[in-house]
Amino acid sequence: MTISYIQIHPANIQIRRADWGKDQADLANMRRRVFIEEQHVPEELEWDEFDDTATHFIASIDNRAIASARLKPDGQIGRMAVLAEYRHQGVGSRLLYFVLQSAASLGLKQVYLHAQLAALSFYEKQGFKSQGDIFYEADIPHKKMQLKI
Ligand SMILES: CC(C)(COP(=O)(O)OP(=O)(O)OC[C@H]1O[C@@H](n2cnc3c(N)ncnc32)[C@H](O)[C@@H]1OP(=O)(O)O)[C@@H](O)C(=O)NCCC(=O)NCCS
Repeated sequence: MTISYIQIHPANIQIRRADWGKDQADLANMRRRVFIEEQHVPEELEWDEFDDTATHFIASIDNRAIASARLKPDGQIGRMAVLAEYRHQGVGSRLLYFVLQSAASLGLKQVYLHAQLAALSFYEKQGFKSQGDIFYEADIPHKKMQLKI
């Protein structure tokens, strides 16, 4: 995939809690592009029953949604996705930091996630530690990671 990167100014990134009811089209569009089209995750694995109860997050720039994440009530962070053309400019890190702050404000003491091996260093930079063996989800190798907050 050839990516034409779009340069952004970090000060212009806006991050907020999303509403699955109102923001579903934007969230689903980003996840479709990143997980289904780019990473070939099957549709039936991407859409699950947890979206209804999770807290969702959107990062946007000039009112354009460019990144998504969700936090399940049990503390699992997932569906971290930055549109390809906006990567490597700190959007993912800022979004993850915002999710961690929200998790703390919700009273969670620890969060965890299933990290794709390719993204381990991204999460390590925010203090996550990996544990256990490699396992596969959607044919992609993962490791469990956790962080006390
Ligand atoms: C992983 C992802 C969310 C990172 O978002 P991003 O906005 O590019 O991340 P940042 O710019 O904040 O990167 C922060 C650091 O993490 C590291 N990093 C970023 N993306 C990485 C990747 N794909 N693999 C390994 N390290 C990565 C970089 O070293 C970067 O540090 P640097 O800026 O000092 O070089 C993004 O690449 C993405 O959406 N990937 C596709 C979907 C995906 O794999 N999601 C994770 C599922 S577990």
